[in-house]
Amino acid sequence: MASIDFKNRVVVITGAGAGLGKTYALEFAKRGAKVVVNDLGGSRDGSGESHNAADTVVDEIKALGAEAVANYDNVATVEGGENIIKTAIDAFGQVDILINNAGILRDRSFPKISESEWDSVVGVHLKGAYCVTRPAFIKMKEQGFGRIVFTTSGAGLYGNFGQANYAAAKTGLIGLMNVLKIEGAKNNILSNTIAPVAASRLTEDVLPPEMFEKLKPEFIVPLVLFLSSEDCQDSGMIFNCAAGWYSRTAVVCASGTIIGDGSREISPEEIKENWEKITDISDAKPLDNLGESFGFLAPLLK
Ligand code: NAI
Repeated sequence: MASIDFKNRVVVITGAGAGLGKTYALEFAKRGAKVVVNDLGGSRDGSGESHNAADTVVDEIKALGAEAVANYDNVATVEGGENIIKTAIDAFGQVDILINNAGILRDRSFPKISESEWDSVVGVHLKGAYCVTRPAFIKMKEQGFGRIVFTTSGAGLYGNFGQANYAAAKTGLIGLMNVLKIEGAKNNILSNTIAPVAASRLTEDVLPPEMFEKLKPEFIVPLVLFLSSEDCQDSGMIFNCAAGWYSRTAVVCASGTIIGDGSREISPEEIKENWEKITDISDAKPLDNLGESFGFLAPLLK
């Protein structure tokens, strides 16, 4: 099998000073990429700042004989996002791959979530993806090549107690990816999303110790690298990954049922009567775009 390498590729990884981002950065570097190591260097809840985290990873990459540059900007501001991409262009002239990875947690049950806990988590994960991806996307369009990886979470895709702010932000990224899949297609810009589970400071008090040991961040790396490579030709997909388990997950649409003829009124009683058919997802499949969903109601629009 031909090996996947990133020679002449420039990768920007947000939040690469620790955890998953750091493991990606080291493997990209080993496979020839020039790496922009972005990290604000704050604590788990996003407070504080330090250059240490990003600098340490850059030193480790240089010790491997590879090229890297540090950036300490906050992904959650437009200025920060622009500067992260500018760092890549100033140092290496291009940006081929963007891994949106930076993240924080401020877990609390929904009635207790304050406005600042909501705003900071949505700010880093969702607005942060906008702030960094937009300038990268503009450059990728000029280049006619780009690979973008977003990081969602099972907490958002499936639900998890106490993570309403995080879940909402993480699932918002699916909407962003769905649109970039369409807008980037003709310029060979592919966007995919991972939903990892891995040992890091974000999960150390969430996962039982015996699971924590097994869920090594290194298991997430190969999927992220494949999605970032020229060999990957898929776009708009979401993947679960943990401890060596890799599985596609998707927003799907079922054919459902048609009630009435498109002109007569439909009663709530008819919805009740048809509930089994409406909720049946046995023939459900992912759709390529919004327009495709209109196919299901075509008989009603004649
Ligand atoms: P981590 O806390 O070890 O790493 C996150 C890094 O992002 C930190 O180094 C932090 O300084 C940096 N960061 C935070 N806010 C930033 C900002 N505003 N600007 C720039 N850098 C910032 O966490 P981990 O586990 O490696 O998480 C990586 C990503 O994976 C996050 O988006 C997280 O939500 C996501 N994720 C992780 C899971 C897991 O099981 N570890 C599960 C699902 C999603």
